[in-house]
Amino acid sequence: MKKVKLNNRNFELYISRDEIQNKISQISNKLNKEYRDKNPVFIVVLTGSIFFATDIIKSFKYDCNVQLVNAKSYGNDMESSGKVQINNLNLDIKDREIVIIEDIVDTGITLNSILNIIKKLEPKSIATVSLLSKPSRRIVKVEVEYIGFEIEDKFVIGYGMDYAELGRNLNDIYILKE
Ligand code: IMP
Repeated sequence: MKKVKLNNRNFELYISRDEIQNKISQISNKLNKEYRDKNPVFIVVLTGSIFFATDIIKSFKYDCNVQLVNAKSYGNDMESSGKVQINNLNLDIKDREIVIIEDIVDTGITLNSILNIIKKLEPKSIATVSLLSKPSRRIVKVEVEYIGFEIEDKFVIGYGMDYAELGRNLNDIYILKE
């Protein structure tokens, strides 16, 4: 079993890079069918979704735009602060087909806030793709159209996701072991 130690916390392999890539192929097939002639705007929620978003967008075969946004809900801790801000949304998205790309939906607070901000800009449609979801942690009900893996209520890192800004560069996803 592959293990990593970050900031004195132990993590174990949870989802391998092959499993991640298989799931990405499945989601990409759906997106290629659904958004073929729609010139979607992929809104990438930084920073945790960087690798997932890159893989998803590279697999999209048709015209699209890409917009990176910052949404902060975590400090260096493992609990959501409940405060969400979204920066650098410069593109005019009125009447556009929006696909939000997230790393993980936990309490749902971040995604819900992003959806509320984006809805006000009057896009034609909005869908969300999230690599991971922790359904048992949900505080706010949010719809996520494309989910990679539903996972248990444990902290995960790797493939873009961090613990205290460490672990993003791992190619597999690891789970916290006490
Ligand atoms: P939410 O607002 O509680 O849904 O939190 C969403 C954000 O919290 C994600 O986009 C991540 O940045 C972060 N997050 C939630 N759970 C984890 C985790 O297990 N590992 C790393 N980041 C997480």
